[in-house]
Amino acid sequence: MEIPRHVAIILDGNGRWARSRGMPRNYGHVRGAANVENICRAADELGIRYLTVYLFSTENWKRSQDEVKALMTLFHSYTRTAIRQARENNMRCRVLGDPSALDATLQKNLSELVESSKENTGLNFQLAINYGSRDEIVRAVRRLAEDYKGGSIGSSGEITEEKLASYLDTADIPDPDLLIRTSGEMRLSNYLMWQLAYAELYFTDVPWPAFSKKELEKAIEVYNGRTRRFGGLKPGEEDPAGKG
Ligand code: IPE
Ligand code: IPE
Ligand code: MG
Repeated sequence: MEIPRHVAIILDGNGRWARSRGMPRNYGHVRGAANVENICRAADELGIRYLTVYLFSTENWKRSQDEVKALMTLFHSYTRTAIRQARENNMRCRVLGDPSALDATLQKNLSELVESSKENTGLNFQLAINYGSRDEIVRAVRRLAEDYKGGSIGSSGEITEEKLASYLDTADIPDPDLLIRTSGEMRLSNYLMWQLAYAELYFTDVPWPAFSKKELEKAIEVYNGRTRRFGGLKPGEEDPAGKG
């Protein structure tokens, strides 16, 4: 079984999972956050090297003030847990997204998480928080424009795919091989749109709080049944010589 090097997850369905149990949406978020820990451990056990999870999008601010507030409070405690978990499990954590809109304590927790784990050599764990692909690309292009103006980029010809990618939040992180979205929706919701160019997409109806290690293994099994081509063909797929 080939284990994808990088798995990206859109963890969706916390609210619906809770509502279907007659519980408030926020209860779903609490259970969802606890499950992020489980899946980190599972990913590491399976030999996945990079795991990236979507915790809060640039569009999620549109939710009710109450829900946003509850999520931010949850992120405070979640990041404290993550700091401990990163230490115990040798995880290296990085943050994708624009932290400037988050409150000062959360920003501090996130920097501590990144700083304290940067020498760790186990699972590379990326938290996408206040993340949106379009926002990421705009921030990247702004910094690129500054560097062009400042002279460290000499000509527009120097702006290649690699160059632009090096300005993204995912600089130095390989592209995801497999994208998983839980809870039935089949869309990207502004997630890693540059990086997912050639990822295999896997959608499951299982809501995030119920997504277990077994479900992750199922996704990897399906991934193994896919033929990745990256625009080319595999040996043996071409027409036989001379048979046009
Ligand atoms: C995912 O669950 C978590 C976040 C987006 C913060 P949702 O909150 O989107 O749950 P549903 O999709 O409404 O069920
Ligand atoms: C995407 O889920 C964002 C996160 C998982 C953090 P949403 O639930 O916000 O996406 P839409 O609104 O259904 O597209
Ligand atoms: Mg949702």
